[in-house]
Amino acid sequence: MPATAFVERLNEQIAHEFAAHQQYIAIAVHYDAETLPRLASFFYAQALEERNHALMMVQFLVDQDVEATVPGVAAPQSAFSDVVSPVALALEQEKRVTEQINGLAAVAREHGDYTAEQFMQWFIKEQIEEVATMSDLLRVVERAADNPLLAEEYLAREQLGDEGEDPTAPPVAGGAV
Ligand SMILES: [Fe+2]
Ligand SMILES: [Fe+2]
Repeated sequence: MPATAFVERLNEQIAHEFAAHQQYIAIAVHYDAETLPRLASFFYAQALEERNHALMMVQFLVDQDVEATVPGVAAPQSAFSDVVSPVALALEQEKRVTEQINGLAAVAREHGDYTAEQFMQWFIKEQIEEVATMSDLLRVVERAADNPLLAEEYLAREQLGDEGEDPTAPPVAGGAV
C-alpha cells in the first residue's frame, strides 16, 4: 500500500497537471488567433505532455490499487496583452510544478514509500527539461517582442521542446497520444 499522504498529494498533482494542460491550450489558441502557428503548435504539444503527465499519475494510482480522482480545474488565463506574457506565465507555472514535484518526492521519502519515490524521479528529470525549454523560449520571445515572426522563424529552425520518444517514461493511462 502506498503512503496515504502521498496518494492525497498525487491526486492534487493530477489536478495541477490538467490545469497546466488547459492553460497551455489557452495559450496555443491565443497564438493561433494571432496567426503565430509555430508558437501555437509548441503550446499544443506542451499541453499534450501535461495531459500525459496527469494520466501517468492516474495509471500509477490504478496500478497501486488506490483511488485516482479525475478533477475539475479552474479556468485558465486566456487573454494576453503581448507575445511575451504567455511564455512568462508558462515559465512561472513550470517553476511552481517543479516545487510541487520535489514536494511529492519528499513526502514519499518521509513515509518510506520507495516505490512512490522512484516514480517521482522521472518527473524531477522532466521538470529540469521543461523549465530549461521554457526559459529558452522566454529569451527568444523577449528578443522578438517587436517582431514575433522572428520567434516563429526560430521555432521553425530549432525544434525547441521536441523530446522525441522517451523509453523511460512511466506508462500513460489509456496509452500515450
Ligand atoms: Fe507536467
Ligand atoms: Fe510542464
